[in-house]
Amino acid sequence: MNAFRMTIAAAAMAWSVAAGCQTLTPQACEQTIVTPKAQGRYLWLPIQDSAPEGKVQVISKGMLLTEQNVRMAREHVDYYVALDLLPYQQRGDIFKVCVQNVPTGSICFSKLAQNDNAAYALIDETFRPLYHHTPRRGWMNDPNGMFYSDGTWHLFYQYNPYGSLWGNMHWGHSTSTDLVSWKDEGVALASDAWGTMFSGSCVIDTAGTAGFGRGAVVAMYTVSRPTPFGGDVQAQALAYSTDGGRTFTKYEGNPVLTAEDKDFRDPNMFWNEDIHAWSLILAVGQEMRIYSSPNLKDWKEESRFGQGLCCHDGVWECPDLFPLTVVDSKLSNGQSAWVLLCNINPGGPFGGSATQYFVGSFDGHRFTVDDESRYTDGKALWMDYGKDHYATVSFWGAPQGRRTVMAWMSNWQYANEVPTRQFRSANSIARDLGLFEDGGNLYVSVKPAPELMAARGRKVKQPTEACEVVVDLKGSATVTLANARGEHVTLTYDDKARTLAMDRTQSGATGFSEAFPCTTTAPTHGRIRQLRIFIDRCSIEAFDAEGRVAMTNLVFPTEPYSAITVKGGKATLWEVKTSPQAP
Ligand code: FRU
Repeated sequence: MNAFRMTIAAAAMAWSVAAGCQTLTPQACEQTIVTPKAQGRYLWLPIQDSAPEGKVQVISKGMLLTEQNVRMAREHVDYYVALDLLPYQQRGDIFKVCVQNVPTGSICFSKLAQNDNAAYALIDETFRPLYHHTPRRGWMNDPNGMFYSDGTWHLFYQYNPYGSLWGNMHWGHSTSTDLVSWKDEGVALASDAWGTMFSGSCVIDTAGTAGFGRGAVVAMYTVSRPTPFGGDVQAQALAYSTDGGRTFTKYEGNPVLTAEDKDFRDPNMFWNEDIHAWSLILAVGQEMRIYSSPNLKDWKEESRFGQGLCCHDGVWECPDLFPLTVVDSKLSNGQSAWVLLCNINPGGPFGGSATQYFVGSFDGHRFTVDDESRYTDGKALWMDYGKDHYATVSFWGAPQGRRTVMAWMSNWQYANEVPTRQFRSANSIARDLGLFEDGGNLYVSVKPAPELMAARGRKVKQPTEACEVVVDLKGSATVTLANARGEHVTLTYDDKARTLAMDRTQSGATGFSEAFPCTTTAPTHGRIRQLRIFIDRCSIEAFDAEGRVAMTNLVFPTEPYSAITVKGGKATLWEVKTSPQAP
């Protein structure tokens, strides 16, 4: 038995003994923080990103209700995060907040605050996007469990409420009716005895097959926790909501799917008409597994996919599987195919993370590619040819048969280092997928969601912090966005080579990571006649208006780009209407 197997065996035993309730810690409380209810709902924790992690615990009647790893400020305060006391205050029992592993003389103890002011000490950050989704405070990565219901788009996301570095994974929740302005709905799923909340999906169980009620929103997520022997153990768990996704209850029979594999995560469920049951696609190491279930609780493995195909330079993560139809091509209008999304990290075309996909068919049990030669010898199909487009998955139940997706706009190579403070990361604009045909092959098309048209504001002459630039092209062209400090980004369309490139080497602050300055280049699959470029303070998303190229890159100009130069085309600029999120 090798070391890893031992880890898994021991961890599997742990699954059977861990309780839904938290374990008792006999450890003494090093520092107790007094939090009288009358002083308010939020305990504001002062954070120093460079400090080692301490532990902040809430303890009641000898029970550990929660424990988070928090970089409590030792020498200086970078920003504040909230410990929301409301759930504990509502229990009615006396509880205490304990801080462990933080030296007594640390500055955090004199800077703590408690009040009801959700906007307490919010930093006005120059790089906070204006029409992209971001968390108010804390760290965000993958979009999770997105679904659409009754006019509302629900977006859950990988979230650390206790710092702007990765850790303490929760599911955060936001909603939107226009895909441009987002309302913060707080934490949907917090870590528990099974582990922290990794990525997953939501479905609406209209028929109530799981026994949680008709129309329940059912979430499946990965629970991940370190084993005492090193490494993590991961399993799949369920939670359900009977109030349309506002609050979730964890299923008492969790976890519902366990295995001995390392990197066993990111479940994505969908209703499978062919077998009249639920299907689930899961990333396991460097392959995808497909399961089926009558009730979302009991899962049977159906097939495995991926060996020998495409990129295996990194871990396969965050899968999705759905049918798409060709809409734009005269040749094959109406033709449809199944698409399997496979996010990979590292191994992206420009280093680090990226979204690859496979086109093929799904017989209800097994996914097969249409032509293996498209994915052999290092060949891959990429959904977006920028460097900041990862963990793409689709909304369940988007209206009018749309397949709408969002991606996390960052890259694991430097996501923890980008120059924002109180929050880190934004999601891409929503995009609608389709299929197009080129040279006898089908590809996934990516277009900005139609809601972005509705978000167009007044026409402007020069770029603003939040704008859309439409460039009509007749042939090769360059578009340069620049500020008065000489920082600039250049997009180059080469009509002969049929490529689109974006150079961000001189875009502003680039020195926080060697992997950041770069030029990304995409094949255009034909001639580009119109480019749509979305700028929002720290991101540039460029699309061929016909959907055959998408390119998403972060930029950190030290002042906004205020001038545009176009050679070989004609630009029209619109402001994008924004409505800043309430704290
Ligand atoms: C992808 C990922 C997922 C995992 C989550 C953890 O970015 O690594 O595979 O569930 O992030 O935050």
